[in-house]
Amino acid sequence: AFVVAAPCFGCKYTDCVVVCPCECFHEGDQMLYIDPLECIDCEACVPECPVEAIFYEDNIPAEWQQFIALNAEMSAKTPQITQRKTPLAP
Ligand code: SF4
Ligand code: F3S
Repeated sequence: AFVVAAPCFGCKYTDCVVVCPCECFHEGDQMLYIDPLECIDCEACVPECPVEAIFYEDNIPAEWQQFIALNAEMSAKTPQITQRKTPLAP
């Protein structure tokens, strides 16, 4: 599955959510999470993110490894998001 990592924190540009064919994205207070059970690895969201926050789980930088478990845990506890909204960061 693809994973949302640290650059999303405090940004939430939400350009990613509208291209996902599987409605994988879930919204936390400070960042988004991808549901690994729904993600089909299509990669459509990756080029949409202006801050390059989305990685394939096997390619995620070492310092952000914990985001794999965080996406799995938090996507189960947060609401789906399928519409673009105003980002936190300008
Ligand atoms: Fe959705 Fe595809 Fe991104 Fe997975 S890789 S979150 S299916 S857009
Ligand atoms: Fe976050 Fe990038 Fe999507 S900042 S909300 S992963 S477009």
